[in-house]
Amino acid sequence: MTSVSAISERVRPGEPAAFRGAPPGKRAIVVGASSGIGAALVERLVGEGWQVAAVARRAELLAQLARRCAELPRASGGGIVVRAHDVVDAHEVPGVFEALARELGGVDLVIYGAAIMPKIARDEYDTTKDLEQLAVNLAGCIAWGNAAARLFQTQRHGMLVGISSIAGERGRKGNPVYNATKAGMNTYLEALRNRLSECGVHVCTVKPGFVATDMTAGMGKLLWLISADEAARQILVAARARANERFVPRRWWLVATVIKSIPRFLFKKLNV
Ligand SMILES: NC(=O)c1ccc[n+]([C@@H]2O[C@H](COP(=O)([O-])OP(=O)(O)OC[C@H]3O[C@@H](n4cnc5c(N)ncnc54)[C@H](OP(=O)(O)O)[C@@H]3O)[C@@H](O)[C@H]2O)c1
Repeated sequence: MTSVSAISERVRPGEPAAFRGAPPGKRAIVVGASSGIGAALVERLVGEGWQVAAVARRAELLAQLARRCAELPRASGGGIVVRAHDVVDAHEVPGVFEALARELGGVDLVIYGAAIMPKIARDEYDTTKDLEQLAVNLAGCIAWGNAAARLFQTQRHGMLVGISSIAGERGRKGNPVYNATKAGMNTYLEALRNRLSECGVHVCTVKPGFVATDMTAGMGKLLWLISADEAARQILVAARARANERFVPRRWWLVATVIKSIPRFLFKKLNV
């Protein structure tokens, strides 16, 4: 079996945007692909010649994404298949993963970006809402992450990219469970990275700051807001660099470092 590092040496400079360090095969599954960062990632990958399976619930948005991809220059050789799937149905994931892997002819890259972040009032403790976030943001990531890990460990190559958030760095007053799901995702992805590095498989945790998508719509003026396409570009740069963890844009690392260093008694008083 060939390891990732062995394969990476065959990636020649100037070769069209293959993942450096990852296998030369360009077959990806993007979960949470119907809008925002996920959709932008799909468009970029297809434009770079990847065969991509785009997964989310809203079939009409996925069909629109497929039409946009069909308009990309044919020279790239990229392609898209779409699959309507609700990540809450975790028991379906192994079957959906296997079917997509068969359709793509294999899988080299899995990106998990599905998430919800409902508005939560400061005096709201709605377990139904909270458990839904847990199911989509964390349990869904685990179900898809496990399916990817199982295949990648067996084939001894592949890359898993998890789109987490800077929100997972501390427990804030605003949305306790969104923060908790992202913190849980960080720990899960770190553990997978440690396990899978032994067989040359890489796991990259991405922590975006503010990105202009449906998720942030109506939130007013946001610090260092970037477009979904710019976020997607930076995420692919991080993946190609085999970063363990990457803030997007990178300057959020400084903010995270400051946030993490604030003593608990002070953080408690902050209205964030
Ligand atoms: N926007 C930001 O400022 C920001 C900052 C930090 C981190 N992030 C993270 O970036 C990722 C992408 O978010 P975004 O900003 O691009 O928001 P978005 O446009 O709302 O995208 C969320 C994606 O998740 C999918 N999704 C939600 N529930 C799902 C379910 N039950 N089953 C399958 N797919 C589901 C949505 O598709 P369907 O609704 O069609 O299912 C959609 O494709 C998320 O993980 C988010 O936490 C965003």
